[in-house]
Amino acid sequence: MPAPPAHAEGPSMSTAPTPEAPAGPHGAAARRGPFRAGERVQLTDEKGRMNTVTLTPGGAFHTHKGFLQHDSLIGATEGTILENTTGQLYQALRPLLSDFVLSMPRGAAVVYPKDAGQIVTMADIYPGARVVEAGVGSGALSISLLRAVGDDGYLHSFERREEFADIARGNVETIFGGPHPAWRITLGDFQEQVLAQEEPGSVDRVVLDMLAPWECLDAVATVLAPGGVWISYVATVTQLSRTAEAIRADGRFTEPEGWESMVRGWHLEGLAVRPDHRMVAHTGFLLTARRLAEGATGFTPKRRPSKTGFSEEDLNAWTPQAVGEREVSDKRLRRVARDAASTIQRGSLPAEEAQARRDAIADGGTVE
Ligand SMILES: C[S@@+](CC[C@H](N)C(=O)[O-])C[C@H]1O[C@@H](n2cnc3c(N)ncnc32)[C@H](O)[C@@H]1O
Repeated sequence: MPAPPAHAEGPSMSTAPTPEAPAGPHGAAARRGPFRAGERVQLTDEKGRMNTVTLTPGGAFHTHKGFLQHDSLIGATEGTILENTTGQLYQALRPLLSDFVLSMPRGAAVVYPKDAGQIVTMADIYPGARVVEAGVGSGALSISLLRAVGDDGYLHSFERREEFADIARGNVETIFGGPHPAWRITLGDFQEQVLAQEEPGSVDRVVLDMLAPWECLDAVATVLAPGGVWISYVATVTQLSRTAEAIRADGRFTEPEGWESMVRGWHLEGLAVRPDHRMVAHTGFLLTARRLAEGATGFTPKRRPSKTGFSEEDLNAWTPQAVGEREVSDKRLRRVARDAASTIQRGSLPAEEAQARRDAIADGGTVE
């Protein structure tokens, strides 16, 4: 069954102007103006230590050096510097997406902001695009994709583990202040579910972040529109090579292109201007290819590697442990899912609706 755009039937958030929140793209109003009760604020002390608090009337942020009343932040201008009961100073700012993603509840490794930026730009994710994604994991990449497709776009995310879907939903709803009108999640294996739910040739972009993207090759080729972009994020060189060779051998795509990005921060102090001593040296590799028109065959490279085949034995070796993925217990995932659910801002989603949506995911159904 083809899936209608989620915003046509899913629960939608009102964007009607209110005295506090002017109309605009989804979630934008909540990121402007004075701080409001219920929102998250990042407090940075003079040593650069950061803490994120959710503003509650009557609440307080305690450290071993005194406390700061939440009421002194509610109604204050963003960027204000406040003093706690012992004179400690704090800068108060709304967390940026990159801050949120690195501190939100997570069950699996998230796509780092530097890679999410590459994915959005290099896969050309544009407002109004129809995008499918798997797996959802903690929802970090889903958030960037939703921002890029916008309220009138369409992001259909597939995830095989329901605890991850639950965590991702909590994180997405926290940052957007409620359900996003362009988003739906389906539980199950991408390669089966996407074929059941998307029309052949109807998808503009496919974004995969999973262990074995080559297993999805036929499904991607089926749903992707001619000229559509497939981008995969993989952690290891062996996955990169396996995916690239599978795409090349299939013939329905352009030549795959692979790369990685490295971001190195710089220390900036007087004349001591130099690269930071520490950096996140490796996150993952990116690989893109574009769907050719039906019946067209990809150019074969003039020089082919001598050994591109993979035996059945190789295939069985692709386990999370073999590629160095951390095994996460079901118990831990359930706890993180509970944490993620409890961070959804209640003010923007009625409690009974939040519960109904959690129940729907727990029942293994599609949540829109
Ligand atoms: C590394 S996590 C994704 C992280 C996510 N992109 C983020 O930024 O938070 C990989 C996810 O893919 C899911 N997965 C793996 N193979 C899948 C498949 N064939 N279909 C659906 N989900 C799959 C796993 O359960 C896991 O949650």
